Amino acid sequence: MTSHDINLTVDGTDEELIVEARTLLVHALRDELGYTAPNVGCESGKCGACTVHLDGEAVKSCTVLAVQADGSEVTTAAGLAEGDDLHPIQQAFREEHGLQCGYCTPGMVMTATDLLETESDPDRDEIRTALKGNVCRCTGYQNIVDAVESAAEDLRDPNTVETPTENPPGGGN
Ligand code: FES
Ligand code: FES
Repeated sequence: MTSHDINLTVDGTDEELIVEARTLLVHALRDELGYTAPNVGCESGKCGACTVHLDGEAVKSCTVLAVQADGSEVTTAAGLAEGDDLHPIQQAFREEHGLQCGYCTPGMVMTATDLLETESDPDRDEIRTALKGNVCRCTGYQNIVDAVESAAEDLRDPNTVETPTENPPGGGN
C-alpha cells in the first residue's frame, strides 16, 4: 500500500502525518491525529456526522481522502471555540436544546456555521435546506433550527451573546 506524507493545519495547529492513499480525512483526523469532534457515522456521505470545514467550507470528511486535503486548513467543531468562549452557534445549540447525544451535533454546528458565513439571515426553510445532509435521531429538528436561527441573530447583534461555559456542544466525544 502506497503511503504519503501530508501536512494539515487542524484547528490552528500544524500537523504532519503519513497516510495510506485510501485513508479518509475523517480517519486521519480521529485515528492518526486525535481530533475527535468529527464523528464517524455512515462513512458514505449520508449522515453528516463527520462534517468539518476544509479551507473554510463545510465538507463531509468521509468523502475526502486525506491526501486530497494535503496543505489544507481544517477546522473541527472543537476549533470553533476560542479558549473558554463558545462560538455563538455552540452557545445557541446549548441554550435552545438543539442537542441530546451529541453524535450529530459537531456536523450540524459546522454546516450551520458555513451557512451563516454566507447567509446572515436565513429563514427557517433555508436553514432546513442547509441541514438536509445532517441527520439527527434524537431531538427532532425543531430545536436545531431554533438554535441556528438564534445563532444568526446573535451573530448579527453580538451584544445579545451571553457568557459561555465549558463543555462546548460539538466539542468531541
Ligand atoms: S460519516 Fe461522513 S457523512 Fe456519515
Ligand atoms: S443529538 Fe443528534 S443524533 Fe442525537
